[in-house]
Amino acid sequence: MVEYAIQADGLTKSYGALTAVDHVDMRVPDGGIFGLLGPNGAGKTTIIKVLTGLSDITSGEASVAGFNVRTEPMRVKERIGWVAAEVILDDDFTAWENLWLQAKLQRLTDWKPRALELLRYFNLEDRRKDKVQTYSTGMRKKLEIALALLHQPRVIFMDEPTIGLDPGTRRMLWELITGVNREYGITILLTSHYIEEADALCGQISIIDHGKFVASGAPSELKSRVKADFIELETTEAVDEARLKAIPGVSEVRSQGKAWILRVASAEEVLPRIFQSLKTDGIRRINVEKPSLETVFLDLTGKRIDQAGSEIRDYRKFYASVRRARG
Ligand SMILES: Nc1ncnc2c1ncn2[C@@H]1O[C@H](COP(=O)(O)OP(=O)(O)O)[C@@H](O)[C@H]1O
Ligand SMILES: [Mg+2]
Repeated sequence: MVEYAIQADGLTKSYGALTAVDHVDMRVPDGGIFGLLGPNGAGKTTIIKVLTGLSDITSGEASVAGFNVRTEPMRVKERIGWVAAEVILDDDFTAWENLWLQAKLQRLTDWKPRALELLRYFNLEDRRKDKVQTYSTGMRKKLEIALALLHQPRVIFMDEPTIGLDPGTRRMLWELITGVNREYGITILLTSHYIEEADALCGQISIIDHGKFVASGAPSELKSRVKADFIELETTEAVDEARLKAIPGVSEVRSQGKAWILRVASAEEVLPRIFQSLKTDGIRRINVEKPSLETVFLDLTGKRIDQAGSEIRDYRKFYASVRRARG
């Protein structure tokens, strides 16, 4: 019996002296949507790489869909799908040809009924004979998810599924992701550096920073742990820390780049005192964060989750290794 769709104990991945993933423990129940939330370089993609068998585990244990990633990598690969952060499709191919290629890569037989069903589900049926280069970014992403679902995986890994998309397309994808989880009963592990995304989609999340999980739980649970507001402040002239600390109601002061981040009991009470203490014209920018996953992250790491970039990933290599192993 599969107790957890994904389980990891002390999972560690090092690249030379750099520990990209540092003793991570995970328990993802079957059928859930689990989120890894963290800034660029935190180790999110590396976790996906080791769980999917794309990259070797340095130490620790992990199982996915009931099979040990280290000792039964092929059984794992047969049961998982992967959606990379970048849109990687053959532009000169139609949707149908991309599905055909995917079926080839995975040596699937009798894939056509499933492919048609997926095209219908993702509203791409009418465009299936058009080259992918004529698709919008949202349509490309939908096709990528369809490709990852073709072999009926139990678990699907989505790396930054909405990176670079406009807000409307992002929301459309959120609905599709929850739909896929519900309709197909598939466990989803997704990574994101978008706070609202993790909040909206995930039943459980782990916040990751420098390869370590700094907090895990349901988003609401994590938010209720922070009993403070945060004020981010940028001034036109240098202010010293002591002056900010002296403002009544400010419990902590941290600097981040050009800005200061003040932890306060209540932003409403402290804001007028800040304006009084620093001349209003000395304030370049002021931003209030009420309890959110952003403040959870701020509280735990002292930083904001910044906007992440993305790197090239070895999408083809992943499916090629499935094909090789199937002979
Ligand atoms: N193949 C690699 N070789 C060396 N270092 C790597 C490699 N892949 C990732 N890293 C490093 O590991 C850390 C985590 O990277 P990554 O998992 O891609 O982070 P995230 O996906 O959260 O942005 C980063 O410091 C990154 O530079
Ligand atoms: Mg990444």
